[in-house]
Order: sequence, then C-alpha cells, then structure tokens
Amino acid sequence: MKTPTISVSIAGLFLARFADAAFGVTTKANSFSVDTNAGLLFDVSRSTGDITSLLYNGVQYQGTTKMTHINSGLGSSKVTADTVNGYVRITIAGGSQPLTQYIVAKPGQPTIFLATHITGEINPGELRWLARLKRTAVPTGWHGDVATLDGCTAFEGKDTFKCPNGQTRCKMYTSDRFIDDQVHGVTGKNVGVWMIMPGVAYETSSGGPFMRDINSQSGDDQELYWYMNSGHVRTEPWRFGLHGPYAMTFTNGTKPSPNLDTSFFSTLSIQGYVPSSQRGTVTGHATGIPSPFQAVLHWNNTQAQYWTVAAPTTGLYTSPLMKPGTYTVTLYRNEFPVAKDTVSVTAGATTPRNITSTESRPDVVWRVGEFDGQPFELRNGDKIERMHPADVRMGPWGGNYTVGKSTPGKDFPMALFAKEGGPVTVSFGVGAAQAAAETVLRVGTTLSFKGGRPSVKVGGWTGKDPGAPTLIDSRGVTRGAYRGYGDVYTWKIPAGTLKVGTNTLTLGVHGSGDAAFLSANYVVDAVELQGPRGADSPSV
Ligand SMILES: *[C@@H]1O[C@H](CO)[C@@H](O)[C@H](O)[C@H]1NC(C)=O
Ligand SMILES: *[C@@H]1O[C@H](CO)[C@@H](O)[C@H](O)[C@H]1NC(C)=O
Ligand SMILES: *[C@@H]1O[C@H](CO)[C@@H](O)[C@H](O)[C@H]1NC(C)=O
Ligand SMILES: *[C@@H]1O[C@H](CO)[C@@H](O)[C@H](O)[C@H]1NC(C)=O
Repeated sequence: MKTPTISVSIAGLFLARFADAAFGVTTKANSFSVDTNAGLLFDVSRSTGDITSLLYNGVQYQGTTKMTHINSGLGSSKVTADTVNGYVRITIAGGSQPLTQYIVAKPGQPTIFLATHITGEINPGELRWLARLKRTAVPTGWHGDVATLDGCTAFEGKDTFKCPNGQTRCKMYTSDRFIDDQVHGVTGKNVGVWMIMPGVAYETSSGGPFMRDINSQSGDDQELYWYMNSGHVRTEPWRFGLHGPYAMTFTNGTKPSPNLDTSFFSTLSIQGYVPSSQRGTVTGHATGIPSPFQAVLHWNNTQAQYWTVAAPTTGLYTSPLMKPGTYTVTLYRNEFPVAKDTVSVTAGATTPRNITSTESRPDVVWRVGEFDGQPFELRNGDKIERMHPADVRMGPWGGNYTVGKSTPGKDFPMALFAKEGGPVTVSFGVGAAQAAAETVLRVGTTLSFKGGRPSVKVGGWTGKDPGAPTLIDSRGVTRGAYRGYGDVYTWKIPAGTLKVGTNTLTLGVHGSGDAAFLSANYVVDAVELQGPRGADSPSV
C-alpha cells in the first residue's frame, strides 16, 4: 500500500542518488566526456586536448570554427584522464611544446579548473588560455564593445580596427592591470562565462602588478582569454614552472567571487604545485605614501612574482603566500617606484619587514600631473586604455598649457608623438628668486615607442638629447598600453636662463619612426620644474 507522501520521498531519494552518480568522466570514441553534476558537461579531445563541447544547462557554448584550448591548440598530444580522490583530472602532454596542461573537475561545481606547467617558453611566445565561445550565446565581451569587430576594418597591424562611425576596436582594449584582474568574463542573457585567477595564479606570469593583457575579442566567435605571458609591451624575462591554478566557470550572469578554493590541487600530483604549507609571508608597514595614492608592494625574482596593496593610513600589509626564496621588493606610489629592498621568505614562516618611501620631493616652481606612474589625469588619459589615439572620441594631441590657468585633464595631452599633434608648450610666470636660481626640469614618462623621448627648450636654452631609452619591441599607446620601463629624465637649467615675467617650455619628441601615431612617442607621467616656490607652486 502506497501513500502519496511515501512515493514523493522515494522519488526525491532516487533523483538525489541519480544526480550524485552523474559526476565523473566517460571515455568516448574521440573524447573524454566530463559531467560536473552542476549543469556543465564538457568534452576534451583524446587526440589534441582541445575542449570540443561546453554544454551548460542544455545550451552549447563551444564555438564551431575553432575549439577551446591552451595557446592556439597543441595539435597531436598525449591525453589521459583519471579520477583522483574524487576529482576528474585530465592531463595533456603538449605535442611539440614544453608544456603540460591540466584540466580538473570537482563534483558539484560548473567550473573547469586549469593549470599549465611549462619548462621553457612556448612557440610563438604567447602563453594563454583561449576559449572560443558561440557569439550568439554570449554576445557581450569584457569592457563592452571595445573589442567588438562587427563592420570594422583593420587599420593598424592585423588587430586594431576602425569602424564606420570613427570608433576604434582592439582586443588589447579589454585588458586590465593584473593586480586588478582576478575575474573577467563574457556574458549573455542569464549566463556568464568567466576566467578566475585566484590567490597567486599570476606568480609565474611576467611583467609585475601593472602588466595588462588581452581578456576578450568579439568576432565570429566570442573569444575569452587568460594571458599568462606574451610579448605585448614585455618588460621582463618569462618565468617557467606551474601557471595557476586558474579556472573557467559558468554562472547565471553574476560575476563570481575571486576567492575560489583550489587547495585540493595538492592531492592531485600536479607538477610544480606548491601547497600553502610550503610557503611563507612577509608582513609590516609601508610608509611615506601620502593619500590618496595607493602603496603597492611588489616582490619578484626570476622564479616568481607577487603583490599587494598596503592599507590606507596605517600602511599595514601582508604579502600573499610566497614560495621560499630571496626577493626584490619594490614599493610604488600607485605605479611610480619609490623604494626598493630585498627580503628572504622561508616556508612556514612570517618575515617582519617595514619599508618606507625614499623619494625626494624638492620644492617646485610648478608641476603638471603627478609622479604616480600613470597618465590618467592628463588629457585623453581617461580614454587611452580603451581606444586608439585616432578614435573620434579622443581630444586633440599637442597643445598649450598655462601654469595657474590650465587644467591637466583638459590642456595637457597624456602622450606626445614625433609626427602627430605637434609639441606641447608650457607657459609659466617667473619672479626674481627663480630667475636667479639654477632650476631642474624633470619629465616622467611611463612608456616609450620607437625610441621616443622628450626634447626640451626654454627661451634660448635647449636641453641635451638624453638618447633613446631601452626599446620595447611592441606597439604601445596605440594598443591602449601606458606601462613600460617608466624612464624619468632631468635637465639642469642654468641660473639666468629664465627671465622675470613669462617663460615658455617647449616639449617635443626626439626620434622618428613611422607616420602619425606610429611615429616615435612617449606617454607622460608628470612634468615639473624644481626650484624656488612661486605664486603658482603646488604643495609638494
Ligand atoms: C544568480 O546567482 C547568484 C549567486 O549564485 C544569485 O545571488 C542571483 O540571485 C542569481 N540571479 C538570477 C537572476 O538568478
Ligand atoms: C622585478 O621587477 C622589476 C620592476 O618591475 C623589474 O625591473 C625586474 O626586471 C624584475 N625582475 C625579474 C627577475 O623579473
Ligand atoms: C615597523 O613599523 C611599525 C609601525 O611603525 C613598528 O611598530 C614596528 O616596530 C616596526 N618594525 C620594525 C622591525 O622596524
Ligand atoms: C598651441 O599654440 C600654437 C601656437 O599658437 C597653435 O598653432 C596650436 O594650434 C595650439 N594648439 C592647441 C591644441 O591649441
């Protein structure tokens, strides 16, 4: 005899057991098929390690032209699948590349956990995860339409596009600073596909906390990336070893938390994985960074890199869990280096260490912008990360700035080009004390292209050409980049050069290069004239 109550509970029990049984990996003719038991089923090719199907809640997200994989796919590879401690682990030994890719699934999470081990740099030199998703299912890229190519035509290189309305598009315009980029993704109606870089996922990437790289591009497919390293405005050697763990996850559209637990990787025999128990930290106070600037701490050596932001006011910081070793530590005011030190990290231990800014801040006659390693407060600085300097929405280049009257955001461009926009003039008033003194002109740059560096002239005085800075062999500001080596130049202006009354500095570019925005150029951090304070002088 059955009662309705009993039959309902039996059905519920049956469903729960059936659902539990769904987690696992099945070997098919061409693929390993994984059911996460959380609405996500994915297939991994047994011959290449490519992900060939991404079914989430019954909808296929995998694009049809190209597959989802590391780099541009590894080609013929050794692919194995097993279940370890209740997790599915797929191991892809990467064909001709010095690379092992791990794909891991955890019961009850619609998440593909990933880790990439390299013993040398891959070819070509771009280490990235690249998901090629169905554009119709997830139409919206990261930062909206900055890399939506529909109807637009390549006008610089193969990757930078101009649209009929005069706007520009490039996948580089989707990039964020690594220090800010723990989660990015692409979205559609009630769905989002996201890359999560939890904890110390960037420890074997290159370029430090302010490096930025491609996150998405919306063309035939919706391309979702996580770049571990590349030649895009590269300033450091590459690091080898384990990259990640990182993850690609599906949600109902809500941005997921960056606090993804990947500690179970310690039970999966992942090459190069260093568990928390074998790591150490550094803690202390970072001082001498005035509000509102951020105090950023950056530790690095040839093996690893880490960063954190100290608490405002107190300067208290604790580093991430680092691998044992000796590190250079750099303290930045935003992105401008103001102190360096060395520190050793021991497994299982906390090293106490204070650091304080060693920056000298002499009196200035005037300053335009702030020495903070960023050009955002100058004209077009609010737009440069997301569009080309030739974009119809950009303000003009070159210009005339009057100390005490002009504002940096309106009147001083964030970059100067040898063959576009012309020079920048700075007009300033000088009193007897300043005219009688030797002054120092200081120009901070954050990035240089094709050897571009400042040319300077005041009245009859011309500053010496400082010579071309170290070349970064990559397009820079035209692809939304502003961070390179950050060269800072100074010139002594002899006493008697400045005249009582109005003086004019002409700032231009040494260097040539190609036409227009691909001519030699540099991005401006700040410009100041150090010397006795006057009526228009800012507080230091
Ligand atoms: C999406 O998921 C989040 C977290 O899981 C939840 O808070 C939110 O209500 C969901 N939104 C919709 C529209 O279902
Ligand atoms: C560490 O970071 C500094 C500052 O960005 C950089 O100049 C240096 O090359 C880095 N060191 C290594 C080993 O990458
Ligand atoms: C670090 O600075 C804090 C705060 O000023 C101070 O209390 C502490 O003694 C300092 N530690 C060292 C090792 O100097
Ligand atoms: C700056 O002044 C020069 C000389 O008067 C002028 O030719 C140029 O158009 C001005 N630039 C801007 C952006 O106003």
